[in-house]
Amino acid sequence: MIVFDEILSTISEILRDNSGITEPFVINRDLNGRVRMIFSETSRENKNLETLAAKMAERLTPHGFPMESIVAFEPSLELIKANVPSFTLESFKNVTVVDRLAVDADWTNICPPSDGTPRVVFFSIKGGVGRSTTMAATAWALAQNGERVMVLDLDLESPGLSSYLLPEERRPKYGVTDWLVEDLVDNGDSLLNDMFALSELSHDGAIYVVPAHGKIPGEYVPKLGRVWMPKVCQDGTRTSWAGRLGQLLAALEARLQPDIILIDSRAGIDEISSACVTDLGAKKILLFAIDSEQTWTGYDILFKYWLKTGVAEEIRDRLQMIGAMIPEVDSDKYFDGLCERAWDIFRDSLYDEISVDKAESNPFSYDKGEESAPHFPWKIRWNRSFASLQSIHYRMLATDGGEVDSVFGPLIDGLLPIVDEGKVDSYGE
Ligand SMILES: Nc1ncnc2c1ncn2[C@@H]1O[C@H](COP(=O)(O)OP(=O)(O)OP(=O)(O)O)[C@@H](O)[C@H]1O
Ligand SMILES: [Mg+2]
Repeated sequence: MIVFDEILSTISEILRDNSGITEPFVINRDLNGRVRMIFSETSRENKNLETLAAKMAERLTPHGFPMESIVAFEPSLELIKANVPSFTLESFKNVTVVDRLAVDADWTNICPPSDGTPRVVFFSIKGGVGRSTTMAATAWALAQNGERVMVLDLDLESPGLSSYLLPEERRPKYGVTDWLVEDLVDNGDSLLNDMFALSELSHDGAIYVVPAHGKIPGEYVPKLGRVWMPKVCQDGTRTSWAGRLGQLLAALEARLQPDIILIDSRAGIDEISSACVTDLGAKKILLFAIDSEQTWTGYDILFKYWLKTGVAEEIRDRLQMIGAMIPEVDSDKYFDGLCERAWDIFRDSLYDEISVDKAESNPFSYDKGEESAPHFPWKIRWNRSFASLQSIHYRMLATDGGEVDSVFGPLIDGLLPIVDEGKVDSYGE
């Protein structure tokens, strides 16, 4: 009997001992974690398949299908791989592992940065580390700089950002959840004008807030239970929920013409975070971290998955660690510890190894102390005046720039070049 984590190593062992199979094939891990091998029709005549099927069925129990059905044939292996997470089995270039997941989250589907307004995602493994507060303060500072900022609350299961930027009476009628539900019946566009509001904190720029739900949340629980639905049109085309979210973002971007879009993701390795981090074409993905085992284990799991599935190179240069809530006491020591742990996991999975004999032309690799490195945290200090549970909105109304700058300055400074690059790209200046 094997467990899920032993499936791939067992298959590798069997394949190593059975060199008769050289053609491409797919290992399909179904929703229950049971495995079947799918070959192209042209492989039917391969005499080695019978022996392979017997070995696989015997050794993969209870994660394999019975011998009679553990091998299947399909006209196109490409179709089998379409729209699902897949990766090459280590050491076997001809074998692709396809993972059917019960959730519509695909952490391996890394979209390149979007062409239009730069998008920045605020993500963390652990909740309550100051993502939304930082985003509100950043929007405040960027607007003070004259920028048009669009902020989107995608923490749908635990919304909070909009209340940090809007008093209740200013909240719009609808939110992201309403659009995702209405879109399923082709009614999304009629909501577009009523799902954002201008914050009073806009200064010389603008802060357009797109909340998770409207002023009156309405039947929020049943709506939330439907937002993940893919949309299947009459002609059979299917758009995943993350794809639909992308369409919403594009529509809002076209309407509001912001200089930057800030996205408040959900915390943890779940479906919403997956869409925010990998599907929305973010230019920068801010990884909030406090120095806790839960944080490092979570990021390590994610980075190793990206490495294993062969997509690390597509995303690593857009990641940036954020040192959240750096304590007032012993802050240098705390920061050094944070930097060390961050460097460990980046080096293990995302940085190129530099070997003396095989010098890479342009390796993606950084020393621990390099301030421009993605692992080197941008500091956000813990500050008493942002710690209370009182309305952040009223605090932001009364705040002066010096206070915001002293707590959130490094992150705001880090984002300013991204806003400028976005303007150059769109105006061709
Ligand atoms: N820099 C800071 N210094 C002190 N307290 C802070 C700071 N940033 C946020 N806080 C406080 O920490 C708490 C959590 O902040 P916030 O809601 O921004 O976190 P979050 O990561 O968005 O949480 P959630 O996962 O629940 O959405 C709030 O009470 C907030 O006032
Ligand atoms: Mg939050």
